[in-house]
Amino acid sequence: MRTQALGGRPRQPRGGVPFMLLLAVLVSPAALAQGASRGARLFAQRCGTCHSVGEGDRVGPDLHGVLERRDEAWLTRFLESPGALIDAGDPVATALLKQFNGIRMPDQPLSEEERAGLYTFFRECTAKGKGSCKPSPTQKPGTDATPEEVALGRRLFEGTEALAQGGPSCLGCHDVRGTGVAGGGTLGPNLTFTFARHGDRGLTPLLAKLDTPLMRELYAKAPLTEEEQYALKAYLADASRDGSRPRKDRDFFFLGVVGLLAALGFIGLVWGPRGTDPRAH
Ligand code: HEC
Ligand code: HEC
Repeated sequence: MRTQALGGRPRQPRGGVPFMLLLAVLVSPAALAQGASRGARLFAQRCGTCHSVGEGDRVGPDLHGVLERRDEAWLTRFLESPGALIDAGDPVATALLKQFNGIRMPDQPLSEEERAGLYTFFRECTAKGKGSCKPSPTQKPGTDATPEEVALGRRLFEGTEALAQGGPSCLGCHDVRGTGVAGGGTLGPNLTFTFARHGDRGLTPLLAKLDTPLMRELYAKAPLTEEEQYALKAYLADASRDGSRPRKDRDFFFLGVVGLLAALGFIGLVWGPRGTDPRAH
């Protein structure tokens, strides 16, 4: 995929390292939050086209309460290879096949860890009750968006369409190549390649929380809805895919530093009183 080729940050001139370290510290809570919902995400990506949990049968059976109606050992054998179980004449698998019009669930490799994540997810759904495990629209890959979703993301980003909870538009602090009439703000980093840098998995939890020092203040009480999170992800995926390298690596880097320093200044973290700033003159 073309965006992956841009996965690395542009080469930083000297002095870039502290900036990157700071950024790594700022985004790491998002990485932690990812672990908790691994089973849900895996389900959305690999099972959700054919199964729901608590919303009725689709191509395959509703999996609400599946660990109550089947024992775990059977389920593990089934998931290791539904085809093999059917071919071996297992009565439950054979009955399911008949009930679901002879459609065979495809064999797909799952690691032990992935299976464990799915079981945790199934148990949590049962404990929380039917209907509690609707897959979040944010789990859909940003690159699968329709043009309408991308366009909505752009309007939300630019503020031509208001955010449902009343949060400020992103344009005030962020630029994306080609956005707005005169470009966006520079208090925050340029987001043109943020999707390529973080990947879908990294960006999804970031947009769910906007949990960095400056944005937290603004969006904690006015969070983005899941549809908005998805539309913004779709817009950023689109921006990141389409086109060449950022204008010039150095400008790109420079914008980031200016944005970060501005943000740090804004929240009063810059080296205490002005006089002690070694770079003040
Ligand atoms: C292409 C559609 C498809 C996908 C994708 C799929 N399944 Fe299935 N699944 C089915 C069908 C159809 C059946 C029932 C017929 C059969 O056994 O083949 C089934 C049956 C099952 C059953 C047995 C349910 C019961 O009541 O005992 C489980 C458990 C299951 N699937 C889990 C999963 C999990 C977990 C994933 C993702 C890793 C997954 N399936 C992905 C189509 C699918
Ligand atoms: C008041 C200014 C401000 C607004 C408004 C704002 N941001 Fe930010 N954003 C920042 C700053 C500053 C950072 C850098 C991290 C920090 O210090 O908080 C950032 C970082 C980010 C990052 C991480 C970038 C990266 O590559 O690591 C994303 C993604 C992001 N913002 C998305 C958004 C979206 C989407 C909106 C609109 C819903 C938005 N921001 C609104 C200031 C803002």
